[in-house]
Amino acid sequence: MNTRPPQGECGMYLDVKGITKSYRDNTVLDKLDFSVLKGELVSLLGPSGCGKTTLLRMVAGLVSADSGTIRLAEREVTTLPAHRRNVSVVFQNYALFPHLNVRENVGFGLSARGMTKAQQKVPVEEALALVRMEQYADRPISALSGGQQQRVAVARALVVAPDLLLLDEPFSALDRKLRETMQVELKALLRSRGITAVFVTHDQEEALAVSDRIAVMNAGRIEQYGGPMDLYSKPATSFVLDFVGMSMRLAGTVKSAEGRLLRISTAYGDITAPGNFIAGARVLVGVRPELISPGLPQGSPEATNRVTATLSDVMCLGAKTLIYGAASGDDCLVCEESGAYAIGLPSAGSPVTFGWRVEDTLVYPAEHRQ
Ligand SMILES: Nc1ncnc2c1ncn2[C@@H]1O[C@H](COP(=O)(O)OP(=O)(O)OP(=O)(O)O)[C@@H](O)[C@H]1O
Ligand SMILES: [Mg+2]
Repeated sequence: MNTRPPQGECGMYLDVKGITKSYRDNTVLDKLDFSVLKGELVSLLGPSGCGKTTLLRMVAGLVSADSGTIRLAEREVTTLPAHRRNVSVVFQNYALFPHLNVRENVGFGLSARGMTKAQQKVPVEEALALVRMEQYADRPISALSGGQQQRVAVARALVVAPDLLLLDEPFSALDRKLRETMQVELKALLRSRGITAVFVTHDQEEALAVSDRIAVMNAGRIEQYGGPMDLYSKPATSFVLDFVGMSMRLAGTVKSAEGRLLRISTAYGDITAPGNFIAGARVLVGVRPELISPGLPQGSPEATNRVTATLSDVMCLGAKTLIYGAASGDDCLVCEESGAYAIGLPSAGSPVTFGWRVEDTLVYPAEHRQ
């Protein structure tokens, strides 16, 4: 059944264009564009209140847009009611029906479409088998664990063969271990069925784990939309730098700009960085901790930055060790070494040098910092 799926006129399966939504004077979504390819697993990632759920519910048809359009599987669905969009939603609290058992919950969408219990039998059994819940079919919902309820919610969403599956923080009620298991399971399941899905999450690790692409949202806008590695290694804004992964962050002022090489003064010494700023500009310097060495990194010394501070903490986290320098204000001096690196480090209170390559230095306008 590997037919070429409909991608819409511009190649997009879901295509949200210029969506705006306000509640009184609160603009929740601001001329937002967002698109998904058929079969893609995409996450909307952002802090609480940035508009993730509103966007998801709008795609589902549960919230209306003030302006803009939504197309899905070659249909304009902007004003279509939810039940005519063929979109399934897995809600954060699963929203299972407590008075129905597992089988009845899973069959609910099929009943709503007029299927008899006999007609539902095969698809419901299939959906339960997909999430390995066949043996629980006759259980009441109250007799299930959180992970089992999550599986039932997924089976209920998939049984109707939706064009698009939307999941709003689907793992947030589960403990860390189960959450990680469910992420792996669900991703494999959606992949094997070629299902197109949008996850909402505020957990960056979850987004990185389950997604082909991640849209990082901030205050009703998408700041960057790209693959996990793109977001991590080339954050487009200081917000993305902060929100996805850890970083060393230093406030600075551009002293001179020659070609695309900047000389920037920070509270810990001057550094060199690629970028397009004028002298006098206030900037935020960012570097990923694993690209920094407590000493000097491999590579040519002339292309190397170094700042010096007082060692304030060493955290051994098993697979990695974080080394912190004392920093002022919003600055953060941190580098990461793999393994239990503490051997040979000076003790807290000693001077420590953080070194990294010029080309690994990211520079953003200071005023864009959130
Ligand atoms: N029905 C509503 N009436 C008024 N304001 C609303 C309504 N629904 C959402 N909002 C507001 O819109 C903003 C975005 O809400 P939304 O639920 O989309 O955020 P979110 O990104 O999903 O956050 P969280 O991570 O906390 O779930 C919030 O400021 C919220 O208060
Ligand atoms: Mg939400």
